[in-house]
Amino acid sequence: KKDEDYRFWKTQPVARFSEQVESEGPIDSSKTPDDIPAEPYALLKEFEWDTLDLEDKSIIMEVYELLYGNYVEDTDSTLRFSYSPEFLDWALKAPGWRKDWHVGVRVAGTKKLVAFISGIPVTLDVRGKVIDSAEINFLCIHKKLRSKRLAPVMIKEVTRRINKQNIWQALYTAGVVLPKPVSTCRYYHRSINWPKLNDVGFSPLPYGMTRAKMVAKYALPSETSTAGLRRMVAADVPAVHELLTKYLRKFELSQVFSQDEIRHWMIHDEEIADEKRVVYSYVVDSPDNTLTDFVSFYKLPSTVLGNSSHNSINIAYSFYYASTTSLELPRDDKAGVLNLQSRLQVLFNDALILAKQANFDVFNALTLLDNSLFLEDLKFGAGDGFLNYYLFNYKAFPINGGYLENGKLDGINRSGVAVVML
Ligand SMILES: CC(C)(COP(=O)(O)OP(=O)(O)OC[C@H]1O[C@@H](n2cnc3c(N)ncnc32)[C@H](O)[C@@H]1OP(=O)(O)O)[C@@H](O)C(=O)NCCC(=O)NCCS
Repeated sequence: KKDEDYRFWKTQPVARFSEQVESEGPIDSSKTPDDIPAEPYALLKEFEWDTLDLEDKSIIMEVYELLYGNYVEDTDSTLRFSYSPEFLDWALKAPGWRKDWHVGVRVAGTKKLVAFISGIPVTLDVRGKVIDSAEINFLCIHKKLRSKRLAPVMIKEVTRRINKQNIWQALYTAGVVLPKPVSTCRYYHRSINWPKLNDVGFSPLPYGMTRAKMVAKYALPSETSTAGLRRMVAADVPAVHELLTKYLRKFELSQVFSQDEIRHWMIHDEEIADEKRVVYSYVVDSPDNTLTDFVSFYKLPSTVLGNSSHNSINIAYSFYYASTTSLELPRDDKAGVLNLQSRLQVLFNDALILAKQANFDVFNALTLLDNSLFLEDLKFGAGDGFLNYYLFNYKAFPINGGYLENGKLDGINRSGVAVVML
């Protein structure tokens, strides 16, 4: 599709495929909140807007059910993301969250929730420019209401509500190609429970291999190897904040965290029961009581569609991490990169072991951050999926996605992307 074929997106302040970015910055900076309509956009008469109150557990359950049945599937419809209610509570109630950015659409007659889109506040750093933005996620329309041009109205409505708060930029990601990605990252998958992944059709048996050989290939030690590795606790928030801030600063597109945000994103609910835990964060203590490393992943299972032996696979996704290794060196320092690579290999091998202990079947990661340094060595395989990063109302030079045109990992430049979207 060309720019002009995007009937909706061609009307929006987004970068075009056809143009080269000459300077970075907002596309339209002419408006103030008073210029923005006070009333919601019109919907077809059988539907109505509803601002969802996610403090109410029964409303989180409605969003959960909508997504459970209708959210993103892989290309051949074997898997569908299965965000738990606890996950949605975590993802949608980040510090500074606003109820009116949780936008539902209901059937006017029955009040059934049939569509959803959300925004949360986020501070972005785009090549040194710090921008108060929104992060848009969980756009979902019930399967029976697809292709009726409802998505554009929902996108405009959430934009209106965000603009009313004097926020004019947003970050969003999608598997689909729209005008115009600022970066594209590739999904990698590291089998933990290979036989189960094979049973559900996710991991075919390679030619010339046996099941036993595949199991041996993905075997992991039962215990982690890094001395001082332990679960992150609330008292670690200031140190993790400092370490992660320094590490993320080296990237071209990163999230700027407050301490409150670190507490929320990395710890969430310390008391939560193990089976409901969403985010898993660990730190490495050094003998002098400073933190040398931090690593985290989150739990996002996928429903297995139409398989008689398994209903779901338990998936860990790589989240934020940071290391003091080579932290004071420029990102392209050759010796520094090698040291960081060794460190990340050990750290992520331990993350894989922790994920195995917590009963995950597979560990997924994108080619963002410095992931291109360790994915191959730790037996991650390239997936079919790509994730495009988009900025709304902001033009930026293209950012490396961590893989090369030939599909191989870019171990030299890695990625400039340091925002992990859920
Ligand atoms: C994505 C989804 C909401 C789109 O709804 P739809 O009924 O298929 O499409 P509509 O007729 O309402 O709107 C079509 C427009 O939305 C755009 N669109 C489709 N998917 C989009 C996405 N993920 N993000 C932004 N815009 C999108 C299309 O490009 C089109 O605009 P265009 O004319 O400029 O090309 C719907 O397919 C869905 O719920 N899919 C499953 C969940 C999902 O993929 N969510 C998005 C995660 S990023």
